[in-house]
Amino acid sequence: MIQLDDVSKIYRGRRGEVAALANVSLQVERGEFVVVRGPSGCGKSTLLLTVGGMVRPSSGSVTLAGENLYGLPTARRGRLRAEKIGFVFQMFHLIPYLDAMENVLCAGLAARSVTADGATGMLDRLGLGGRVRHTPGELSTGERQRVALARALITAPEVILADEPTGNLDPDNARQVLDYLAEYNRDGGTVLVVTHDPLADEYAGRTLLLQQGRIVNA
Ligand SMILES: Nc1ncnc2c1ncn2[C@@H]1O[C@H](COP(=O)(O)OP(=O)(O)OP(=O)(O)O)[C@@H](O)[C@H]1O
Ligand SMILES: [Mg+2]
Repeated sequence: MIQLDDVSKIYRGRRGEVAALANVSLQVERGEFVVVRGPSGCGKSTLLLTVGGMVRPSSGSVTLAGENLYGLPTARRGRLRAEKIGFVFQMFHLIPYLDAMENVLCAGLAARSVTADGATGMLDRLGLGGRVRHTPGELSTGERQRVALARALITAPEVILADEPTGNLDPDNARQVLDYLAEYNRDGGTVLVVTHDPLADEYAGRTLLLQQGRIVNA
């Protein structure tokens, strides 16, 4: 489902170069739940954004659902991302002036059509039936992350990429989010989580360790 071949990413900025990923090769099969764990700055977000088609590697290739992601024209890469991938972020990235249902509907704009009923149904499934018209500012942190999860799930993506999905949550809410990811995985979805949270290991079929841009236990 996901394959990285010898992927390196060097950020070049005013302050010189940072090698965020160094010769990473990794394969995630369809239906796997893989956790990549490592300390702050080791390259986790870079890895996830590279898999998600948002950060072009400096060298190496990324294959997603059989397509050479960075060999595609930008528009096709964007469409593939919208159709196949659901993203969950540590900071939720919800749109503050839209309510929960509208935030979930947003994902449908870029992919297949999603109805208000569908969005409401998904929120209901995630225990947010009573919060459909609340804006992010009116929701608790755990509720916000579940709205973000609903937004990721609504397009029925083949893959969910989650960057520190439990980073801002207490242990109960963290477990709840991981439980929903596990359920999605049991239904056949592929999950790649990058995190520093050891709790995620309990849910993983496989945990990889990333250190200074390298997978150290492949
Ligand atoms: N846009 C950028 N330009 C320059 N350097 C960057 C950029 N993004 C990340 N880096 C650097 O690349 C390295 C890896 O960053 P990345 O965000 O992937 O780490 P991370 O493992 O996700 O960290 P955290 O756990 O703190 O989120 C870091 O040293 C960071 O400073
Ligand atoms: Mg990060």
